Amino acid sequence: MIDIKSALTDICGEENVYDDKYTLEIYSKDNTEKLSFLPQIVVKPKDKYEISEVLAFANEFRIPVTPRGAGTGLSGGALPVKKGIVLSVERMNKILNIDKKNFFVETQPGVITRKLQDEVEKYGLYYPVDPASRESCFIGGNIAENSGGPRALKYGVTKDYVLGLEFVTPTGEVIDSGSKTLKNTTGYNLSQLIVGSEGTLGIVTKITLKLVTKPKFRKLMLVAFSSPEKCIEAVSEIFIRGLHPSALEFLEKAAINATENHLGKAFPNSRAEAQLLIEVDGMTEEILYEELEEISDVVEKFKPTGSIVAEDNNKIEEIWALRRAVGEAVKSICEYKEEDTVVPRYRMPELLKGIKEICRGFGIRAICYGHAGDGNLHINILRDSLSDDEWKTKVPEAVEEIFRLTVSLGGTITGEHGIGYSQKRYLSLALSKQEIELQKKIKKLFDPKNILNPDKIFM
Ligand code: LAC
Ligand code: ZN
Repeated sequence: MIDIKSALTDICGEENVYDDKYTLEIYSKDNTEKLSFLPQIVVKPKDKYEISEVLAFANEFRIPVTPRGAGTGLSGGALPVKKGIVLSVERMNKILNIDKKNFFVETQPGVITRKLQDEVEKYGLYYPVDPASRESCFIGGNIAENSGGPRALKYGVTKDYVLGLEFVTPTGEVIDSGSKTLKNTTGYNLSQLIVGSEGTLGIVTKITLKLVTKPKFRKLMLVAFSSPEKCIEAVSEIFIRGLHPSALEFLEKAAINATENHLGKAFPNSRAEAQLLIEVDGMTEEILYEELEEISDVVEKFKPTGSIVAEDNNKIEEIWALRRAVGEAVKSICEYKEEDTVVPRYRMPELLKGIKEICRGFGIRAICYGHAGDGNLHINILRDSLSDDEWKTKVPEAVEEIFRLTVSLGGTITGEHGIGYSQKRYLSLALSKQEIELQKKIKKLFDPKNILNPDKIFM
């Protein structure tokens, strides 16, 4: 028998190794449904050297290692489904260097995304990627999942900011990939392969992110509609008119009401059947008012039932706080399954209509909301009073139909939450057999003994 505890203690120190029931319980879950898998042990290394030693040890003895950021993931990426070691990067929580002349930041993976944003903003710089969990998620987790969020619409997702990554391979080598430059065509782009690989190819130890200039002003508009269909039809027209908001979110009534109940706060226009939350940002206020006016003109065709404009930052933040709480709110209603469909923007009305029809056909209730401007719709299927049997058989069938529809519309089965553990049974609906085989070969090359985050992405 190998003594995992004493090996990890030798590498990381006794105070950074945990196998008590309370800690194991905490690290047995992330933010995905009710899923829970107890690990054997939790380790919190302080740097790449310790991570390298832990992985070399685990590789030698074929012990599963599940890397973990803040545990806010929504597809089970941080669940230790094969037991073994949970490796948390929470002690690696320093921003290493903000280069205000060259517009980049170097950071460790355990920094909270919001903290990174606040720190670079002190220099007038901007890291725009804002997943709903930005108050608690880690930038390292954002790399693993290629996180998005509302502002992805104008500014792109995590991958668009990654210039370089230092990571440790499952066999313990430290690789410093990428650069600090805006351009780089030097060999294969390993940093970008690691982005979105859900902790299956390496553990990220240092991240170099591009920064942009912070826009000086923003304005937010909430527009109410008499039906979700009308609301979603307005989305594409805004872009076709040549306008490009910084965020364009869709919320159906049930999502809004769930948020009100969850927070005990009122959402503006909350009796409307659906709303669009539209934000514009830029360097002068005049242009933003012009843009809002043009957007109002476009949406007029879809007969909105009301609208409000938030002009000062406090009011804008208040509305964003409501929006960011939607995910937690709809999940608090009852047991649920969360899906993360994405289609080309213009196909959104077909997607929404199709989802509603599929759910009606299966007799299940789903609440939809999400990043409409990106064509990225979150669907929360509620258990309500479904029996165990219905929950286990009917719901996966409905999800499969929804995903088939998504793919037929030119989309895919997850835009920003990842495949992880909870969605892997559906991977073959989106990727060809050949592509899955090639991806598995890449995994094998990095991780010949399959120790790093095993049982994720692939069946
Ligand atoms: C959101 C998360 C669930 O958009 O992605 O709220
Ligand atoms: Zn989202």
